[in-house]
This record gives sequence, C-alpha cells and structure tokens, in this order.
Amino acid sequence: MNVTSLAERILAKLPPRIAEALYGSARRIPPVRRLIEAEYDEMLGAAPIERPAGAHKIYQRLPAESLDRVAIIAELSSLAAAEDADWRSGHASGAVYHGDSAHVEFLNEAYALHSQSNPLHVDLWPSGTKFEAEIVSMTAAMLGGSNTSDEIVGSVTSGGTESIIMAMKAYRDRAGIRRPEIVLPSSAHVAFDKAAHYFGYRQIRVPVGRDYRANVGAMARAITRRTVVVVGSAPGFPHGVIDPIAELSEMARQRGVGFHTDACLGGFVLPWAERLGHTIPPFDFRLPGVTSMSADTHKYGYSAKGTSVVLYRGRELRHRQYFVATDWPGGLYYSPTMAGSRPGALLAAAWAAMLSMGESGYLEATSAILEAAATIRAGIADIPELRILGDPLWVIAFSSDEVNIYEVMARMGQRGWSLNGLHHPAAVHIAVTLRHTQPGVADAFVADLQAAVAEARAAGGNPQTGSAPLYGMAATFPARRAVGELLRRFIDRLYTIEDSDGA
Ligand SMILES: Cc1ncc(COP(=O)(O)O)c(C=O)c1O
Repeated sequence: MNVTSLAERILAKLPPRIAEALYGSARRIPPVRRLIEAEYDEMLGAAPIERPAGAHKIYQRLPAESLDRVAIIAELSSLAAAEDADWRSGHASGAVYHGDSAHVEFLNEAYALHSQSNPLHVDLWPSGTKFEAEIVSMTAAMLGGSNTSDEIVGSVTSGGTESIIMAMKAYRDRAGIRRPEIVLPSSAHVAFDKAAHYFGYRQIRVPVGRDYRANVGAMARAITRRTVVVVGSAPGFPHGVIDPIAELSEMARQRGVGFHTDACLGGFVLPWAERLGHTIPPFDFRLPGVTSMSADTHKYGYSAKGTSVVLYRGRELRHRQYFVATDWPGGLYYSPTMAGSRPGALLAAAWAAMLSMGESGYLEATSAILEAAATIRAGIADIPELRILGDPLWVIAFSSDEVNIYEVMARMGQRGWSLNGLHHPAAVHIAVTLRHTQPGVADAFVADLQAAVAEARAAGGNPQTGSAPLYGMAATFPARRAVGELLRRFIDRLYTIEDSDGA
C-alpha cells in the first residue's frame, strides 16, 4: 500500500478540519515531507501532460535569425491539423460550440480584418466602439432587456470568468463594506470563488437540493446584513440544471440585495429554447430582481474564443465596474473591464458571429442541439447502471451506484471522448454542442457509453484505467490542501519544456 492510500484511509476516518490540520503538521516533518514529495511525483506521473504529437523543434530562446514565415505557417498548420480531428468530430464535451469549417473561416476573416484594432484607442478604432456597444445591446435585448423599462447596459469581457469577476467587483464596490458576502448554490461556477479570492468576499455556498437546483429556503437563511449579492445559474456548469431564478431573485429583491444570473452557458440557448416551445423557467431581466447577468458569446454565441457579455440593470452598477485614473503621468485613463488594451478583432468576430446567426440561426442551432441532447439523454437513461442527475436539457450529468463513473469516463476517453469529470457527487457530464448534431454522433456516443459501462462493470468497483484512479482519489482525498498542492504542481508542469519533446 502506498503512502497516499494509507494516509487516505487514516484521514478519511477523521473530520475534514482535523484531517487538514493533521496533514498540515505531518508535512512539516522532513521524512514525511520527502515521502509526500515522492508521492506527488508518482501521482503526477499518472497524469502525463499532453504534448503535440510528432517532432517539433523546441524554442527556449529566440532564434538568432528570423525564421521563414512560410516555414512557421507550415509548422502552425501541422500543429493545428493534428488537433483538429479531436474537436471537429464531435467527441468533446463543450469546448467548441459551433466549429463548422465555413463558420470558422468566416470568424477568422472578421478577426484578420481587425487584428490590429484596440478599443482602448477610441480615436483610432471607432469600429471597436461600435462593435462592443452593439454586441451588448443585442445581448441585452435577447435577455429580457426589451421587456423592461429599465435600461440594461453592459460590457464585453474576455470570457465568462471575467464577466462574473466584473459583476462581483461592481457589487462589492457599490456596497463598500468590510468582508462582503456572496450567497450562492454549491453548483455555481468556480469563477465566483475566483472573484471572492480577488475581491475579499466571504462566500456562502449553500448545498443544492435533491434535484440539483439551488435550495431557495436554505439560501434565504444564508443571507446576512453583509450579503451584497445572491447568485443563481441558468444553467449551472456541473449538472446543467436551471436554478429557481424567479424565487431567488425575488427573495434578493425583497432583501434589498443584488442578484446575478450566471447564464454563461445558457444565455444564447434558453431564449431560443423558449421560442421553440420548451418550458423554460424565467431567468433573465424580465424578472425585476435580476440585477446582473453573464452570457458567453464564445460558447453558444458561436464566436471565437475570448469574449463574453456582462449586463447590468442600470448604469450605476456598471459604473462600479469601471476603472478610471485622473492623475497618472501617462494621461487621463479609463478602462471598462480588467484588461487595458483589448483585442478589437475579437469584438469584430463576436459581432460578425451574432449577425451571421441572427434569430433564425440561433433558433435552428438550438433546435438541433436540443434534439441531439434528447437522443443522448434517452440513451443514458436506458443504461440501467447509470443515473441522470436532475432534469437537464443539454448539459447532461450522470452518475452510477453500480460502476465507478471515473472508470467509465476513462474508458470513454479510450474511445476518443473527452468528457468532464465532476465530484460531490462523483459524476461525468457532456455539454452537447453543434458538433454533436453531426449525423451519427449522438448515436455513437450512446453505443460507446454502453460499451464503456459494460467494461467498467467487468473491471469491478475500483478505477484502474488511465487517470481514473488519480481522479477518484483527488475527488475524495480528505486533505484538500494536498489536492490543491497537486494542482499547483500540475500547472507548473504545463510550463515545463521537456527536452524529449522534439528535435
Ligand atoms: C455556468 C458557467 N459560468 C461561468 C463559466 C466560466 O466561463 P469561462 O470558462 O468562459 O471563463 C462557465 C464555463 O463553462 C460556465 O459553464
């Protein structure tokens, strides 16, 4: 038995806080520390870093002489070609949301035309100003802005995380109190943890109900006089279920606090699903208590990676997001979001994506995605060993009481599927995208899943394939600090250039 499994056994019997303390003290003893280090190395060895296939020259310093552009483009092409098949084929959960060649080429053209644009220089690139204002306006109108007399305003950010971070900054600065609090369901995206970390929030994460939706009563009880914002997701990343936004936002409104709907995943799907006749609980600015939202153009908005929209009910909150400096020797400075210089080209691509889709395009895409998702959901429901979590639409999480679900995920990985592992409870999800609407993909998923489950059953209860044992251990290991340390080392390894990589 190795140190980890021994420690795991001992620590598992202890309350988490004592387990953490014990781990913290033990790692200060040099021989134990050495053992732990060796264990980290062994565990990281079980999760090898993916490197580009084939021989690629490694550059640790600038080449002394400039390289030939044609050769560089050839190298870039070969790197991209080796990766394309994995996402184009529709074997990945989420990741690439549209991905049709003609659409991608169109986005690239929009990007290329504006690749030098920086909206920080409003005088040089008024087109960037136009793109951003119109992206915000179109998104606001789509998310209930046309159905309220309040002004819905916003900004374009670099992604869902930045949209969330910006909204949380706005609430914190508006409240201006020490140790402000966010009340949110346990399923809300980890970007809120990041915002809490950056902005000194205390997070009150409230366990979700048996249906994996936010528990309204428990969240109401978690609100204190320090609460400045309550959060709900439409839908949440792990289980793809929509929180009871109407109840939560009304509760927040009555308590005089803000409410953020995280529609990073659903913002560009739910309005169209509703128009297609699906029963979608209200989640947007049509609800008077919703004071901010996030919706990602780089997911189901079908733009290139690197944009999202954060929206507010009224300019006052948006003002709290801005940064201005009046006395810097570099001149008067203003910036709406985290970044200083921003890629105007990504604004151009997002604007172009929205116009090229239009209402009819989003309706068609949503219809196709929901159809593929229904096939996948029905296929999962037919596998007796599996259990779907909650009542999802197109982000479908499943677990098992009979087979090890991480083993199932690893065996799906062997068949080329890249799925997302979840924990608390141990589960796996697939976020269905337009890639899965290609002929045969949904059926292939179901057939492969049946086979993977049969293999996992035959393998017995313990995970044994690929990184499944590591995943299982990391999901349950009681000393979470040790798992955090493991993740930090994993990131370090991503930055490590290995000589064996190429010529
Ligand atoms: C519900 C939800 N919120 C926020 C995010 C964060 O988005 P990003 O990865 O673009 O920062 C995600 C990402 O999947 C998400 O699903």
